Amino acid sequence: MAIERIVNTSVSDDNQDEQQLENSLRPKDFASYIGQERLKRNIKLAIDAAKKRGEPLDHVLLYGPPGLGKTTMASVIAHEMGAQIRITSGPAVGRAADLASLLTNLQNGDILFIDEIHRLNRSVEEVLYSAMEDFKLDIMLGKGPSAKSLRLDLPKFTIIGATTRTGALAAPLRDRFGIMHRLEFYTPGEITKIVNRSAGILDVTIHPEAADIIATRARLTPRIANRLLKRVRDYADINGDGIIDTVVAHGALNLLEIDAIGLDPADRRILETIITNHSGGPVGVETLAAITGDERSTIEDFFEPYLMQIGMLERTPRGRKVTHKAYEHLGKKQPANEKTPQTNLL
Ligand SMILES: Nc1ncnc2c1ncn2[C@@H]1O[C@H](COP(=O)(O)OP(=O)(O)OP(=O)(O)O)[C@@H](O)[C@H]1O
Ligand SMILES: [Mg+2]
Repeated sequence: MAIERIVNTSVSDDNQDEQQLENSLRPKDFASYIGQERLKRNIKLAIDAAKKRGEPLDHVLLYGPPGLGKTTMASVIAHEMGAQIRITSGPAVGRAADLASLLTNLQNGDILFIDEIHRLNRSVEEVLYSAMEDFKLDIMLGKGPSAKSLRLDLPKFTIIGATTRTGALAAPLRDRFGIMHRLEFYTPGEITKIVNRSAGILDVTIHPEAADIIATRARLTPRIANRLLKRVRDYADINGDGIIDTVVAHGALNLLEIDAIGLDPADRRILETIITNHSGGPVGVETLAAITGDERSTIEDFFEPYLMQIGMLERTPRGRKVTHKAYEHLGKKQPANEKTPQTNLL
């Protein structure tokens, strides 16, 4: 098992504290949902059109790295539609019968949110196809020669699916979503706004420069921003008067071993090992997984997107390579003949 990390973006179901924090800080409507402007513009338009026609919203697929606000957006959509939302996940819907019972219990206009939709069983997925397309449910009664198939009408509902990986989604399922959106990493300015908003809700005083410090180390991800804020607040309560200033922010973040650009020891180990043991790469994703002791999917969904976003790592057809920025960040000298083409041009 990998070590529990502060910057790890997932939230385990048994972490009650964390769940509570997430719920209390979760924006409820478009106005408080910071950033993702393109996504918001498109969804707003679709919502207005659906409302005008008096129809449910088209099915929506949200994808992108963990902690960027997919679940939050699903509940914002429900709020803005004035719809009821039921929440489930791919692994929780084990059999076609589970899905049938979820669908038959919906009412017109309801939203069914399916998290980790790429983890649905094939047999469940097939039932979902006709349900999404024609609002019909095909069920088989009995077995063998006397079996009969029955077609049930379903209420007009909306599926909102969330996934960290669209690649893992079967094409026929993907095609049934009228609205598909990728959530992007936030800008540093947006993350600062989120930190300040959360500090307001948590009723903690934070100096503007301290909010900036937390924001630059939050991997451009709201969930991590909120988590860091909470840790810094704890530090401020114990080592000071509860006010978060730059001294407190630096002190707390250094204790957590998160560097100036949000990398933690595991990220730095990845970059360092590629440099020292593999001459900068390319290396396979399995090698990276071995370095941190994580699953391959954790590397692909969590570590890589951010390291690539900030230009420390690049994916080539032959594997992952570090960039000259990674050498610089770690204070290592890049061998002259291995400089990336970009550097050679300078
Ligand atoms: N746009 C936003 N503005 C303010 N806070 C946000 C925003 N998006 C997300 N958050 C905060 O970040 C937390 C994590 O967001 P959320 O649970 O929606 O992420 P997710 O994309 O569903 O992650 P996962 O892939 O792990 O399910 C939320 O509790 C919320 O407080
Ligand atoms: Mg989620």
